[in-house]
Amino acid sequence: MAVLQMRTLPDPALRQRAKRVSKIDDSIQKLIDNMIDTLRASSGVGLAAPQIGVPLRIAVIEMPGEEVITLINPVVVKRKGERVLTEGCLSVPGYQAEIKRSLTVKVRAQDRHGKEIRLKGEGLFAHVLEHETDHLNGTLYVDHLENPAELYRIEDAQEM
Ligand code: NI
Repeated sequence: MAVLQMRTLPDPALRQRAKRVSKIDDSIQKLIDNMIDTLRASSGVGLAAPQIGVPLRIAVIEMPGEEVITLINPVVVKRKGERVLTEGCLSVPGYQAEIKRSLTVKVRAQDRHGKEIRLKGEGLFAHVLEHETDHLNGTLYVDHLENPAELYRIEDAQEM
């Protein structure tokens, strides 16, 4: 297992639309293990494959005190409400912004064994689910800002 190099803005790998995973083979398992290692070596709670330069629809999420969740081909099937929360991203180091996202989201995906899973996210977890699925479409949280001046510098903080 290995910690992989984090791609940061303006790396074009972050702007591609990632491809669906059709076969969850050994190379995908290895990739997921490396993504988990990379996430744990960072200050983040979520990591999407494009952030390590792999254009596949895979994300890993580890909320504080929770088990790691692997999402393959995740799709947001329902969004409800609105909430503003401070967000950062491992691919935009040193910055944060207040981002408006859904209060609750429902996501359909496959787990790393290919099993169909459904997740309901609320609060911070809802933001993370939207943030990570955005990455798979080449979207970064900074794209949701109306004004780039809303982005502010930080010293140390948790990053998605
Ligand atoms: Ni991110």
